Amino acid sequence: MTETHGFGGNWTEEKLKRVEKYLKAYATIMNKQNFRFAYIDAFAGTGYIEEKKNKTDDQIFMFQQNDIKEIETYSKGSARIALEIKPEFDKYIFIEKSRKHFTELLKLKEEFKNKEKKIDLINTDANSWIIDLCNNYKWQYNRAVLFLDPYGMQVNWETIKAIANTEAIDLWYLFPFGIGVNRLLQKDAGKMPASWEAKLDSIFGTNEWKEAFYSETQETTLFASETKTVKDTDFNKISKFIVKRLKSIFAGVAKNPLLLRNSKNNPLYLLCFASGSPRGAKTAIKIAQDILKR
Ligand SMILES: C[S@@+](CC[C@H](N)C(=O)[O-])C[C@H]1O[C@@H](n2cnc3c(N)ncnc32)[C@H](O)[C@@H]1O
Repeated sequence: MTETHGFGGNWTEEKLKRVEKYLKAYATIMNKQNFRFAYIDAFAGTGYIEEKKNKTDDQIFMFQQNDIKEIETYSKGSARIALEIKPEFDKYIFIEKSRKHFTELLKLKEEFKNKEKKIDLINTDANSWIIDLCNNYKWQYNRAVLFLDPYGMQVNWETIKAIANTEAIDLWYLFPFGIGVNRLLQKDAGKMPASWEAKLDSIFGTNEWKEAFYSETQETTLFASETKTVKDTDFNKISKFIVKRLKSIFAGVAKNPLLLRNSKNNPLYLLCFASGSPRGAKTAIKIAQDILKR
């Protein structure tokens, strides 16, 4: 499969390179321990570079057309990358909601015939499946790295929380920073649709973002003076806020998430890392922070 890219060092490549490095380090360490360890790709895609098309995913309602074009054109396969990592994982779980993408993903079993029995393919919504797995699986002797790589704001905080609660999963999360959250944060809080507020609540698992990202100002017109709640934030503040939220539930969180920008230098995503295992977190964070350095 060719992995051609329109320009060097694009953000998809950056993202996958970092995750790949971690998977290699993780598999090497876990291979020497007694745990069974899995790679879980919750937004697995097709396994290879995406088709060039401008189709809008029904769940990414806030995108500008240009961003979508870039996403569709330059994504490449995290699933295939994971399957090629050595040493091997004990299990590979690929979740993909789109029937069309899933049909492509199924071909991985053919391509990686020697790992066929280790590969589980699931054609469903990642949020509900992950919550069920995290809550109902016995994690005592099992560990996993989980990659959440959504296009936009598809991951609910409930899912992140279930992952943290296992105390057994290391998480790479492509947080929809510029592409989702910052666009929903309207200048004037009073004009924000209720559905946007609800979406931000579900991404952050709290409504504390209002206090963190808005402040009150006094506006005086010719005839009156009114108090307005206006946006008072930047990428730095949003980044700190999501890291703080992750820290509230995970054993460790990388303090240097990676800001990924598109070709026009607009911030799109923030690649975050968090580790759930109280015993393993220190090492995991050290490795991830190193990988996340520019
Ligand atoms: C950014 S792409 C993933 C790219 C992939 N990680 C790769 O490197 O090739 C996001 C994928 O998530 C899928 N998707 C969107 N919403 C989903 C959901 N709720 N549950 C599972 N998959 C979903 C999309 O169909 C798309 O294939």
